[in-house]
Amino acid sequence: MLNQLETLAKTAQAELSQLSTSDALNAWNSKYIGRKGEITQMLRRVGELSKEERPIFGQRANELKRDLESGYEEKIAAIKIAEMEQAMQASALDVTLPGRPISRGRLHPSTQTLRRIYQIWADMGFQIYRSRDVETDEMNFQLLNFPPHHPAREMQDTFYTTNPDVLLRTHTSPGQIRVMRQYYPEPIRVILPGMCYRHEQITARSEIQFHQVEGLAVGHNIRFSDLKGTLINFTNRLYGQGRPTRFRTSHFPFTEPSAEMDVECFLCDGKGCRICKYSGWLEILGCGMVHPNVLRNGGYDPDKFSGFAFGMGPERITMLRHGIEDIRYFWGNDLRFLEQF
Ligand code: PHE
Repeated sequence: MLNQLETLAKTAQAELSQLSTSDALNAWNSKYIGRKGEITQMLRRVGELSKEERPIFGQRANELKRDLESGYEEKIAAIKIAEMEQAMQASALDVTLPGRPISRGRLHPSTQTLRRIYQIWADMGFQIYRSRDVETDEMNFQLLNFPPHHPAREMQDTFYTTNPDVLLRTHTSPGQIRVMRQYYPEPIRVILPGMCYRHEQITARSEIQFHQVEGLAVGHNIRFSDLKGTLINFTNRLYGQGRPTRFRTSHFPFTEPSAEMDVECFLCDGKGCRICKYSGWLEILGCGMVHPNVLRNGGYDPDKFSGFAFGMGPERITMLRHGIEDIRYFWGNDLRFLEQF
């Protein structure tokens, strides 16, 4: 039986040296040294031997089995490494490949214009005041001197909530009252940027939401010449030094006198083009001296204080600057539009 064992072990060793995959190796393991393997089974037959033969057989058998086992361990370790290397080679990363460009987000064109406007007004000493989007009818209209049946208060123009006294502000001007009530009796130099809402047919020229930047200066002895000088200073910074401007009379319930400000068309230099509708001028903002009633509603005595206010539309400024023909692009979330800025 010992000879039989020696031969078997030799065969097993020979077979082992031929193997090169872990599958084959596992099969070999169960064939020879596994629980039901041929060597293992032979070891169990030790009882068939005589008492004298047993220890010799047993010792040799264990020796042979240990050799086979360590042979197996060595081989399986080597194969595992080889197989792993192979797998890594197959799914190799080429670290020298150039990376794919990451497409970066960028600022919305309105935000870019807003920030430019903030910067200019900050340089001139105006603070930003954030007023609320949801307003009362009183703030949005009454305290701004709108007569009770002014057409702007119609349902067609204003988004009302279920409470008819609460609405989405139709302009940033109600912020004027809030600033005055908070700052009284200090002098005021603020701009009030924010979203405004109007219940309108959406077309290339009108949206139901848009930004405005309101401005308010209140103090002693502020005159219309201060309004003009300050706004000309602003437009010079925004559109370039020396660009001609003009003021036309206008009407707003909350300013008196009121005006609209134009800059010479910077696309045609005043010669007349499609963008300025062949007038040579672009209207850029509404403005005026704060109406005495509005000063009073803000807590300032119009005999002691005066002020000016203005309101501009950053989307309009952006449209003129970039020749954008349709305001609906601004909130359309179309990357083909947004990525151009
Ligand atoms: N609130 C006005 C509008 O929405 C703009 C404006 C603001 C005019 C301040 C004068 C003074 O058209």
